[in-house]
Amino acid sequence: MSARILDGKLVASRVKEEVATAVAGLDYIPGLATVLVGDDPASHSYVRGKRRDAEQVGIRSIHHELSHTVAQSALDALIDELNADEEVDGILVQLPLPDGLDAETIIERINPAKDVDGLHPHNLGLLALSRRGLRPCTPSGIMRILDEYDIAVSGVKVVVVGRSFLVGRPLALILSEKGVDATVTMAHSRTRDLAAETTEADILVAAAGSPGLITAEHVKPGATVIDVGVSRTDGGLVGDVDFESVVEIAGAITPVPGGVGPMTRAMLLVNTLRAAEARRI
Ligand code: GUN
Repeated sequence: MSARILDGKLVASRVKEEVATAVAGLDYIPGLATVLVGDDPASHSYVRGKRRDAEQVGIRSIHHELSHTVAQSALDALIDELNADEEVDGILVQLPLPDGLDAETIIERINPAKDVDGLHPHNLGLLALSRRGLRPCTPSGIMRILDEYDIAVSGVKVVVVGRSFLVGRPLALILSEKGVDATVTMAHSRTRDLAAETTEADILVAAAGSPGLITAEHVKPGATVIDVGVSRTDGGLVGDVDFESVVEIAGAITPVPGGVGPMTRAMLLVNTLRAAEARRI
């Protein structure tokens, strides 16, 4: 039997419609500032997509592009300017930054109320305390897709492979919150026997950034498999999951492309709307 395909593109279009409706009811236009440093083609492509999404739902896109030679002080000054700009509700600095620039310093400079990536220590701290705040987009997108497809999380065993501050760590925090109630295991590159952990999972999230890491032998029959990986190869975008073999054994699976990626982008719009609503009361 072949797994049910969890269509992130479809769910993302639903989320975008919701945001567009909410934005249309506002008496101001929310603004999303994107900051792109250097000339990494993948980053350019991601930011183009984010800007297009914003415009589609009625959010103003304010874009800044800087050379990879930009001084940290100039980037700091741009963040200060965007923090002070009343028309800017959300600030997104595309990662990774070129060598010589410190992402941590830049993220910490963003006003937490405008941190629509949810990566500022203040917002990650609120998340760790289960308090309201702006939450990282990919984990929020994964929760939304599970919800849309009625995949139960409460009481089930979830294994998250990968411990990045962008995905694995915040997702594990959300899943283990009171009211969400999953039993969460975090696996990573030092996990002794990865398959022994992952074959226990009712929901397996692959967020290691390692193409094809998860094969059929890692998956419990009928499990839900969420593939967060995006690696560019000659054959196009590939995930952390060997789709061809895993689709035969899983109960449900997100494809790459068209799974988690569109959800990440959609949740950025949700965060921008929320940041605007909170700031402009
Ligand atoms: N690079 C890859 N994913 C992301 C993301 O979610 N936010 C930012 N700012 N950069 C990224």
